[in-house]
Amino acid sequence: MEVINYKDYLAAVLTQFPLRPGTDPSGWIDGILAHTAYKAPMVPFFQITPEVSPAQNSDGWVHFSSIVGKSESHQELVRRYFQQLMPWRKGPFQIDGIPIDAEWDCRVKWNRFESKLPDLTGQTVLDVGANNGYYLFRLAEKKAVRVLGIDPHPLYFKQFLALNQWLPQPSNIQFLPIGYESLPQLESQFDLILLMGILYHEKNPLLSLQLIKEKLKTKGKLIVESIVIPGDASTVLFPRGRYAQMKNVYFIPSVGALESWLFKTGFKSVELLSVSTTNSDEQRVTPWSSAASLDDFLDPQDKSKTIEGYPAPERAVMIATI
Ligand SMILES: C[S@@+](CC[C@H](N)C(=O)[O-])C[C@H]1O[C@@H](n2cnc3c(N)ncnc32)[C@H](O)[C@@H]1O
Repeated sequence: MEVINYKDYLAAVLTQFPLRPGTDPSGWIDGILAHTAYKAPMVPFFQITPEVSPAQNSDGWVHFSSIVGKSESHQELVRRYFQQLMPWRKGPFQIDGIPIDAEWDCRVKWNRFESKLPDLTGQTVLDVGANNGYYLFRLAEKKAVRVLGIDPHPLYFKQFLALNQWLPQPSNIQFLPIGYESLPQLESQFDLILLMGILYHEKNPLLSLQLIKEKLKTKGKLIVESIVIPGDASTVLFPRGRYAQMKNVYFIPSVGALESWLFKTGFKSVELLSVSTTNSDEQRVTPWSSAASLDDFLDPQDKSKTIEGYPAPERAVMIATI
């Protein structure tokens, strides 16, 4: 049976984003692939190399197309192939005409910062916590020369690899299934880093920011996005139990506190781009998502609170420079 060879894929990515001298790439890759999720092989969709077109965006849906055609039987196979990789948290995508309407409509977040992106022509971009890569495809349209996504969750890497089969190769969009904690092992530095939906999941968000900052080039920029709570610069919520049903939420800053974290990490200019309440246009149950979403995480009597009684999620986006 033909399979997608994870090891070959990762070795090819490391030719673009090499490890620091002294780290053996083969051993490094084996360490990643020791995860049980990689024991099951991933079967490629196409048995022969297909003719494919660059991903196109229309209305923020990322479209992938192959010349195999759009017959009903082909589309049914495409649908089943991508259904095996549910739940899809980020999107939307359209693959040979099959729409993947994911739980999060990422067009909403993208629209909050797209106009503030620097000129990416020839630039190298990193998306930390890239999930399946939705934003990588949007960034690549901006003529970035190399775009890397990292996310340690094996399902999201597999979703990316599934989509990657519809991209002309070699591609300037790459993915490593690692957490940001492994970034010091990479040699590359980046002109732009996206750090979105990460900090409130971290036990030590300032340390996370420090690690990320070290990966920025001297004039590099960071787009940071987080859930925020109301309050002044000294306000941070540390939920005792869950927050909006999430177990892994530690510190949720106010807008002012997030700015202070950035300044304390050494960023010199911080611009607030938007603050908005998350609603069910952005996050909701779809045929491609899990069975529960935002509406199930809010107080049914009072949508301004989470089910645990905390302020409902608002999200802030900032751009920071060193
Ligand atoms: C809330 S989602 C945000 C996804 C995307 N950045 C966005 O804003 O839409 C958090 C993502 O971070 C990933 N993640 C978890 N731990 C991580 C780590 N240590 N380093 C990088 N990504 C991580 C998760 O797998 C998940 O895809």
